[in-house]
Amino acid sequence: MRILCTADGSYTLYSEAYQQSFHSHRGARAEAEHVFLRGSGVASRLIEGHPTEVLEVGFGTGLNFLLTAELARRLGTPLYYVALEQELLPAATLEALRYRELLKDSFLLTNLLSFRRELPARPAPGRYRCAYSDRLICELRIGDATLGSLEQDAFHAVYQDAFSPEANPELWSEPFLGALYGSLRPAGRLASYCVKGTVRRRLARHGFAVTKRPGPPGGKREVLVATKASPSASMQGGSTPRE
Ligand SMILES: C[S@@+](CC[C@H](N)C(=O)[O-])C[C@H]1O[C@@H](n2cnc3c(N)ncnc32)[C@H](O)[C@@H]1O
Repeated sequence: MRILCTADGSYTLYSEAYQQSFHSHRGARAEAEHVFLRGSGVASRLIEGHPTEVLEVGFGTGLNFLLTAELARRLGTPLYYVALEQELLPAATLEALRYRELLKDSFLLTNLLSFRRELPARPAPGRYRCAYSDRLICELRIGDATLGSLEQDAFHAVYQDAFSPEANPELWSEPFLGALYGSLRPAGRLASYCVKGTVRRRLARHGFAVTKRPGPPGGKREVLVATKASPSASMQGGSTPRE
């Protein structure tokens, strides 16, 4: 893994194994905030004080989590954050990314690093809880995300942040996207940087209403928001039936 500085001054990693960076080189922080926090509706929910449950596909450097948790903690809105990850990065790598400089709340990273240091280098597949308080919990589910089962109708938002469909196909397969659909609450949103036609069609076949929205300033032209049908939309015949 190599550390890269992205266009907005925030750092990310480059994975030699996947031949890809963990975030957009045009701005790691901008991507996290624009594509995931705002695109998924999580930022609005937290600002409005609604307790929020998020599912992230690919915890990676923890940047999406740290920025979401910072907003939740600042506003005092409860956040339950579940992240799926196959290979948890070492604490030294997380620290080398200098996310402490991005965060006003240094406790967020300090607590994550202590939690990581207490785990073995390669934690066995399973669920590990990093609790900050009873209002802010991060649950890491270690192992191949496609092998675990997901709760039904549980999450307000999914951050689909796998590597690209070419590099990481199992996390964009039709069955896995179907499991993500099932895990969302009605009207919940899946946000992603990936707007590929094949992915949009797979999402739509599961019943998502798929839209593209403008990407972050200086970043990708378009990013993706896919919304699960809500009961009222189904009653009005406004949704595509799930396969
Ligand atoms: C683009 S990175 C995620 C970036 C992350 N959201 C962040 O803020 O740093 C994709 C992540 O998916 C993980 N991953 C790849 N295949 C996986 C699989 N089958 N199951 C679980 N995690 C996987 C990788 O280890 C990597 O950390």
